[in-house]
Amino acid sequence: MADKDGILESKEFGIGIPQETKGFYVKGGNHYSWGMKSRLNKIFNPKTGKSLMLAFDHGYFLGPTSGLERLDLNIPPLVDHIDCFMGTRGGMMSCIDPALTGNKAIALRVSSGSSILNDDLSDEIISVDIAEAIRMNADLMATQVFIGAPHQKESIDNLSKVINTGNAYGVPTMGVVAVGKEMERTAKYFRLSTRIIAEVGAQVVKCYYCDDFDSVIASCPVPIVIAGGKKIPERDALEMCSNSILMGAAGVDMGRNIFQSEDPLAMVQAVRAIVHEGIDHKEAFDMFNELKAK
Ligand code: 5RP
Repeated sequence: MADKDGILESKEFGIGIPQETKGFYVKGGNHYSWGMKSRLNKIFNPKTGKSLMLAFDHGYFLGPTSGLERLDLNIPPLVDHIDCFMGTRGGMMSCIDPALTGNKAIALRVSSGSSILNDDLSDEIISVDIAEAIRMNADLMATQVFIGAPHQKESIDNLSKVINTGNAYGVPTMGVVAVGKEMERTAKYFRLSTRIIAEVGAQVVKCYYCDDFDSVIASCPVPIVIAGGKKIPERDALEMCSNSILMGAAGVDMGRNIFQSEDPLAMVQAVRAIVHEGIDHKEAFDMFNELKAK
């Protein structure tokens, strides 16, 4: 009850009654800083806890990949259906209108240094600093980690530096498990690499789907999003996506299986329905075909 001056009595403030504190829904994130939680909240939809990230950073070592010949034309039609952009500084700055980003999250590729002309892709540097990431309104910084490769140590050094600066400014880091030509794609390898990345301190890990994927999810204390990998038939890509979500992935960071699809707009919507509505891959494939036919 307010007094004559409109000032509330102390009991109105609920003094002595502890405020309800809700657990943060992003795996492992209860003790992060306010800014970091706010950014993760943009990446992972609070209603589903999941994220559909569109990866189009491939040019950073592949050049003009098929489906990404013109970022300014290839990406904008898909944007309404994604939660998070994942691009390079140059690709984003030159081809994506900032007005298009709206309230969607931005994951920025911050590592570079190799190209498809090299046999060993693991020798990278950090090419985008924290000031630039913040200027670009990034919600996540992504760096490649090459466990078992010749430059494993340097890639973990890169990861550590990005995490150290990211933590200082409340910007989360995503460690991306790299699979070179000779590297295994087994649950054993992914358990090892995702866990190392999480223990160094990354708030998000990107990895590939594999048999026994649930054991990879179980042993990694932070959210894992899956890469799509090389283009495969749409039905198979949707099945992989559905299996990974059923086994506990926090979303997908998919590139080629969306932008190299015979109908990228239909594909991104089918993937979204799996990630956020939990439809199964058969329904998603029907949805893809119906949208494609329109
Ligand atoms: C490169 C990356 C790419 O962004 C990502 O892997 C590409 O996604 P996709 O495999 O779905 O094309 O991180 O290592």
